[in-house]
Amino acid sequence: MNILVTGGAGYIGSHTCLELLRRGHDITVVDSLVNAQREAVKRVQQLAGREFPFYQADVRDEEALETVFAVGRFDCVIHFAGLKAVGESVGIPLRYYDNNLNSTITLCRVMQRHGVKRLIFSSSATVYKPGVPMPADESSELGCTNPYGWTKFMCEQILRDLVVADPDWSVVLLRYFNPIGADPSGRIGEDPTGIPNNLLPFVAQTALGRHKELHVFGNDYQTHDGTGVRDYIHVSDLADGHVAAIDYAMNHTGCEAINLGTGIGYSVLDIVHAFERVNGVKVPYVISPRRPGDVDAVFASPDKARRLLGWEARRSLDDMCRDSWHWQSMNPQGYGR
Ligand code: NAD
Ligand code: UD1
Repeated sequence: MNILVTGGAGYIGSHTCLELLRRGHDITVVDSLVNAQREAVKRVQQLAGREFPFYQADVRDEEALETVFAVGRFDCVIHFAGLKAVGESVGIPLRYYDNNLNSTITLCRVMQRHGVKRLIFSSSATVYKPGVPMPADESSELGCTNPYGWTKFMCEQILRDLVVADPDWSVVLLRYFNPIGADPSGRIGEDPTGIPNNLLPFVAQTALGRHKELHVFGNDYQTHDGTGVRDYIHVSDLADGHVAAIDYAMNHTGCEAINLGTGIGYSVLDIVHAFERVNGVKVPYVISPRRPGDVDAVFASPDKARRLLGWEARRSLDDMCRDSWHWQSMNPQGYGR
């Protein structure tokens, strides 16, 4: 198949591109590089042993997208492009709403014009209302607490409305839980700008000595050891989930929201201990106050993904910790800036 991947130079996009190429699909990538490096694209091509067209363009740029669609005949589009930093979205909401909503609207307009009506959209577990009973399934109540989350919520609604208006469309809204890990080659991985907000990059950089210690945000949650519990999923499992979603979209119309998680919750200390054990490194930590907005536990019901996509996560927590460390230790400065 021929697949257009927006945001394909980013963390999840690069791993998905690699998986698509390994399975023999043709891909074209559009990425503005607002949060990625061209080096990631180069490394995906090296790992796959194949070149593919790459356009450095903003998905909101309708003319640029028209050029891309004029050249390729796409069976399906995966739309990863988006800004994703929760804290930043609170400070600059208009940038987030503009980027995430207008990229989705522009993309759909161009797709419609070219008769391409299969779309896999990157949504997030963040659309579930904080405090909903766990595991969260796709019918759990929705509601967000920050502009980033609302952009995903609104894009989901836009896409549902699009499918109501034109039932020929097939849209899969993939709600990711907490992606971590990297391709086992250690050649591609997560490369956050500045000091990481998310747990795993911070843990890996602490093991590397770039930070004195990890701040564990709260140890008085209602969880088995008092620290926050999340559903961490290996990014390569997520990549496999996208391949399964494409197969589904090829054979169905309509709009489905589907969780991509493991269904297993691990605490912050579970992660720290596994990371130390698997990699033979030390991750010094201190207990710090809770981070505002955090909740006790978030984990997925993965049943719908199993039922509709025939997909489930296969990689273990040890795999995730080993591959995160492999990437970080081989690339202490990420892709280099
Ligand atoms: P990422 O920042 O690594 O990748 C996103 C890519 O999109 C980047 O390469 C960036 O340069 C590009 N981009 C952003 N806006 C663009 C635009 N207007 N035009 C063209 N390119 C643009 O993030 P990621 O972790 O790979 O996430 C991919 C998608 O999954 C995002 O939509 C994100 O919101 C969503 N998501 C991520 C997580 C996570 O924890 N990583 C969790 C849930 C959902
Ligand atoms: C964050 C985002 C969410 C996104 C998800 C996946 C927020 C509020 N939410 O969720 O929108 O979908 O990432 O990428 O940012 N922790 C520490 N010390 C640290 C960092 C984190 O103890 O230095 C703890 C947190 O309190 C939490 C867990 O580790 O319990 C995971 O945190 P994080 O990686 O930031 O993910 P989420 O908060 O689940």
